[in-house]
Amino acid sequence: MNRKQFLKNSAKGVTLTTLVPSLVFCSTDGQQKTISGNYRVNSDFEPDVDLELTATPSELQLFPGNPTNIYSYQSKLLKGENASLEKLPDSYLGPVVRVRNGQKIRVRFKNQLPHESVIHWHGLHIPPEMDGHPMYAIENGKQYIYEFEVNNRPGTYWFHPHPDKITGPQVYQGLAGMFIVEGVNEDLPSGEYDIPLIIQDRTFDNNNQLVYLQNSRMGQMQGFLGKQIIVNGSPEQIMEVSKATYRFRVLNGSNSRIYKLAWSDGSDVTVIGTDGGLLEKPIKKNYLMLAPGQRAEIWKDFSEAKNTDEIQLESLAFNSGTSMGMGGGMMGGMMQSEDTQNGNAFNVARFKITKNEGEIKTLPASFSPIKKTDAVKAVNSNSPRQFYFYNQRMQWVINGETFGMTEVADWEKVKLGTTEIWEFINGDDGRGMGMMQDMMRMPHPVHLHGLQFQIIDRDVSGMESAVWETIKDGFMDEGWQDTFLLMPGMKVKIVMKFKDFKGTYVYHCHNLEHEDMGMMRNYEVV
Ligand code: C2O
Ligand code: CU
Ligand code: CU
Repeated sequence: MNRKQFLKNSAKGVTLTTLVPSLVFCSTDGQQKTISGNYRVNSDFEPDVDLELTATPSELQLFPGNPTNIYSYQSKLLKGENASLEKLPDSYLGPVVRVRNGQKIRVRFKNQLPHESVIHWHGLHIPPEMDGHPMYAIENGKQYIYEFEVNNRPGTYWFHPHPDKITGPQVYQGLAGMFIVEGVNEDLPSGEYDIPLIIQDRTFDNNNQLVYLQNSRMGQMQGFLGKQIIVNGSPEQIMEVSKATYRFRVLNGSNSRIYKLAWSDGSDVTVIGTDGGLLEKPIKKNYLMLAPGQRAEIWKDFSEAKNTDEIQLESLAFNSGTSMGMGGGMMGGMMQSEDTQNGNAFNVARFKITKNEGEIKTLPASFSPIKKTDAVKAVNSNSPRQFYFYNQRMQWVINGETFGMTEVADWEKVKLGTTEIWEFINGDDGRGMGMMQDMMRMPHPVHLHGLQFQIIDRDVSGMESAVWETIKDGFMDEGWQDTFLLMPGMKVKIVMKFKDFKGTYVYHCHNLEHEDMGMMRNYEVV
């Protein structure tokens, strides 16, 4: 280890300031409300869509035999068009909420779980106190009212719990749903041809019960990887489709599994949208990497299928570049067993073409233009902030730090209204505490709350080429993003503008076990 570097880095890490945890906050209209206990609805807020979401233990008949114990969001539409709320039949997953830009949304969240919880609206640009920061988690029996205006681009967003240290198990047991901001005048497949595909992996025991991590530190370090792929919260993997054109809204809702998506008939994966909505124009790829938290909208025309009535969406094998310690040592040995590494091949979903007639659409040559955020105008364009994601003494850290509920370091404070470039590096780059740390490497899906950003650079010069070669065609760096995959040795630069809202948001690794371990920090817009 380079001692000078270490001292410099630890000095950088100790200037932490603490926010006063506040029980009172201001809503956007300036009214004060108390969030301890039952929070009242704001009578000045006129919602277009008013929903009730209750997180509760429940059970569901997923397999023959015993029902499976799950957690689920029970939903009720109190106000709004019927299409605003769509329940997924026979699924443990939460509803699909469909709204439009400009609509005002109220969600009355009730917690009936035996633990605290909070709902995070992944990808939405909303005030901090509406975003589901872990500091706003509520106990069993309490209610939290979310009220916000949708100001995101049309696109595929989602929601899930975000309590400190227990996000992984709550999502795993079934808590997640899709939040679609619908476009107007889009000439794209719609209605029955516009289909969510939420991909997750789960392990069930002989009694049909979900099996999570067995409380092992190494298991958490690695992240949970299930033995079986579940699409849309139900083990039924065959979907009947027509010879028609589909828009699949694909969400990787897995805790830690990364997918390398491809069609079994060898046709291209046609991507039309990313985390933050439609691309400027469709992009064809031979496969697509999709990390936990990411979304991709995929265009598929089954009328082009030749000599087959079944096409599968597959996840191809790849090299994740994971290394978890000394080769041949105890942990090295443990980590070599099959299902503890990302990168195994899976069959994700089967599409059986059972109907001959259906709506066939022509792939548009372009969608609406995306204005590039001007990186040259960034206040730190010459010296981007750097965020090192690495392992330190059996703990995943960001710049040597772990999550503190209200902790914000100087290097995590940004100014409202400014544009910045942030650089994320997977590796310790000499910051670690010796040889061991350097040998522990894993992919980290990096996610920032509260905004959408653009990727301006992906530097792979520090990667093992054996890893890069197996994934290199699968990255979608165009368009708007809120989550990206940071492979071992990789460096990614993003540009974004901090606008509209002051306050504290989190950024973290979206491997939910890493997040729960504390690979998460606050940033504050001041
Ligand atoms: Cu989907 Cu903080 O995460
Ligand atoms: Cu998020
Ligand atoms: Cu991670």
